[in-house]
Amino acid sequence: THFMADSYIQMSDEFYKSLPKEEGWSKPIYKYKRYWYPGNYLPSVISFQQQFQAEDTDIFVVTIPKSGTVWLKALTYAIVNRARYTPSSNSHPLLTTNAHSLVPFMEAQLYLHNKNPDLSKLESPRLFGTHIPYSSLPESIKDSKCRIVYLCRNPKDVIVSFWYFLQKFGAKVEFDQAFELFCKGALPFGPYWEHVLEFWKLSLELPQKVLFLKYEDMKEDSNLHLKKMAEFLGYPFSSQEVDEGVVDDILKLCSFQNMSTLEVNKSGRADFDGKFANDIFFRKGKVGDWRDHLTQEMVEKLEEITKEKLDGSGLML
Ligand code: A3P
Repeated sequence: THFMADSYIQMSDEFYKSLPKEEGWSKPIYKYKRYWYPGNYLPSVISFQQQFQAEDTDIFVVTIPKSGTVWLKALTYAIVNRARYTPSSNSHPLLTTNAHSLVPFMEAQLYLHNKNPDLSKLESPRLFGTHIPYSSLPESIKDSKCRIVYLCRNPKDVIVSFWYFLQKFGAKVEFDQAFELFCKGALPFGPYWEHVLEFWKLSLELPQKVLFLKYEDMKEDSNLHLKKMAEFLGYPFSSQEVDEGVVDDILKLCSFQNMSTLEVNKSGRADFDGKFANDIFFRKGKVGDWRDHLTQEMVEKLEEITKEKLDGSGLML
């Protein structure tokens, strides 16, 4: 990868040919520095790595796809902007704008069509999203005091959610085949376990830098975890706010029930990679849908791999 691009033009066919390729999904994915990326995102991943300058006040929402990114983005936006936008207000931006437009992805939005987007005019704190693993994030993110909120989700639900997501793009992949690719680690931004573990370990080493959350915990005790998020982000709820129900207002605003029924999330389109409507980001929003999709054999296989990969880490998924 010595001829690796510092410009789109230099990202030659030769560069792509030098990388392992997997064609089982709807679009080919390529393995670059231990992780798999959709081919059309590689230039933006690399530009972001090379160009982005983090500020201490930046906030990053990080996930592996289908872990609840859109939910985490909405919650983060609502927490950070609540002095400006009252969460219970019927003119809150989240009611008319998809969270991906308010907290844009680096690789799938900001750097996708612009090698060096001007981010200097964004208000502080800047809120960004990414699926890129820590080891491949720009150095300035690591060197600055910016914060990362990481959300992970049970792998059994992630693969189910992923498969449905890809069906919406017309991917021909059968569930069995998608499951095998997931187990091999060959999914966009995978391998799943390595991705999760990077952020898990970092959250233990640098708890002020990374907050590690689980989708299942967020669902189970949303109130507690929202307070944790707000504190971590430097926007703790005052006791007056708690008494006034602000925490619950944010949870209600960002709930699956509310978000998935908004017109903008049914028929609207985010300023995204392309042409699809926002409804692709909302399906069931439940824990445990895998029970209706995975065979016993699949469950055992995935649990076995997960146990092995997470062994000794202290993380249980
Ligand atoms: P399901 O396919 O299991 O329903 P991502 O945002 O990372 O692409 O993740 C999408 C998953 O999060 C989908 O899971 C989607 O339904 C769920 N989701 C979307 N909005 C949500 C919300 N407000 N609360 C909980 N889950 C949500």
